[in-house]
Amino acid sequence: MENRSQWGTRLGFLLAAMGSAIGLGNIWRFPATAYENGGGAFFIPYLFALLTAGIPFLIMEYTIGHKYRSSAPRSLGRISKGFEWVGWWQVLVSFVISTYYAVIIAWAIMYAYFSFGQQWGDDTTGFYVGEFLQVADAGVLGGLVPMIAIPLVVVWLVVLGILFKGVKKGIEVANKIFIPLLAVLFVIIVIRALTLPGAVDGLNAFFEPNWDQIWNGSVWVAAYGQIFFSLSIAFAIMITYSSYLPKKSDITNNAFITGFANSSFELLAGIGVFAALGFMAQASGQGVTDVVQGGVMLAFSVFPEIVNQMPFMSDIFGFLFFASLTLAGLSSLISISETYVAGVSEKFNISRTKSVLLGGGLAAIISFLYATKGGLNYLDTVDYFINNYGVALAGLFEVVAIAWFARELKGLQSHANSVSDIKLGTWWRICLGFITPVVLGYMMLQNLKNEIVGEAYGGYPKEFLFNFGWLVAIGAMLLGAVFAMKKWPNKNDLDYKYD
Ligand code: PHE
Repeated sequence: MENRSQWGTRLGFLLAAMGSAIGLGNIWRFPATAYENGGGAFFIPYLFALLTAGIPFLIMEYTIGHKYRSSAPRSLGRISKGFEWVGWWQVLVSFVISTYYAVIIAWAIMYAYFSFGQQWGDDTTGFYVGEFLQVADAGVLGGLVPMIAIPLVVVWLVVLGILFKGVKKGIEVANKIFIPLLAVLFVIIVIRALTLPGAVDGLNAFFEPNWDQIWNGSVWVAAYGQIFFSLSIAFAIMITYSSYLPKKSDITNNAFITGFANSSFELLAGIGVFAALGFMAQASGQGVTDVVQGGVMLAFSVFPEIVNQMPFMSDIFGFLFFASLTLAGLSSLISISETYVAGVSEKFNISRTKSVLLGGGLAAIISFLYATKGGLNYLDTVDYFINNYGVALAGLFEVVAIAWFARELKGLQSHANSVSDIKLGTWWRICLGFITPVVLGYMMLQNLKNEIVGEAYGGYPKEFLFNFGWLVAIGAMLLGAVFAMKKWPNKNDLDYKYD
């Protein structure tokens, strides 16, 4: 008997999957990454990565969730008992990410409010780092910053409230509101940015192709890295979400739609961000190159600066930008948190409500660490290590386990083909069996090489990097094994036949 929660509509699932994919990475990571890695020329490795790894991997995860109808640990465990560990590892990586992702959303909420009257003043960087975050030295445990802690409480109330309500009434309904609203707000922002003086210079800088770069291995690594992060692959998310699909659902088509929608949003963000940067460069008499930034600095230092310079209705522009960040972030946070809500409730045989309280509650408590006076240092370090040695490595293990250890690609292919319009061919198995593992393996080696020959990440003290970088990333892997060792409540939990 099937009593698993289900999406109410196909659109509901698609919006939730897009909501997960479209996040802070699209808005502040893609534009700078594309610019630094060849501008217009970056689109070639990017498209290549999307088609040879991103969408094939997404199809694989959708198929696993749909076929084995469980959270990532149990779905992977049903393929082979030994793989349950990889599922927990990914769930724990998601858990860690959720703790600081929530904090960034809290910042965005505060900044939406600061937009009115530009409360950040003229020195936007000084305000962000000094007055707002009150950054202290790395490793110094500081006091709670109320300006961050209060919106953080709001973020968790919203997210846990949505998760309590379940898949159809909570997650689906939220995304049906958030994602269309986000699209509208973002289109308004982009149109406004495009009509600012200097916008064209920004676009020229963004699209100007630097063809030499295309022969550079690191550009390809950047393209694959962007695609993986952006599509929320190997986070246990897409397996969990697709496990709520009704049996009659087109898998392959859904994966293509999710992939292209995410990339379209990314491109739109690139255009909007660079139009705004072009304006700022002109207004401050600098070149576009001098003002390009990515990550938190783009959002919380450069954007406020742009708002300061805007001729009219700047308050609204700032508000819309930070409201978009908030919406994009919330829908992603919901998706990462659902991975552990689902995993824990299955493994410990407890209700969704209890699982939300336990998993979400713990994540919420931990997240206040980043709302303290040195919070940014923790956030920055955890983010770097968990992405490089959590997500990318767990993705490599997942695809090798399935393609090579279980030799399960053919089985998944026929499952996907039995429900989908677009039929997968040998190309799909080649992408996952060869191209993806090779690229991910190469990425790993590059990262490790940087760690050994390069300088300490962010110039932080060794001990700090060990505690908040390595220990967290390796801890997720080891703790995953502990979860996997615990017995399932029913002895046939892992023996499952799709019918
Ligand atoms: N895909 C999201 C983005 O582009 C990132 C994300 C990471 C989402 C982790 C959920 C979980 O920002």
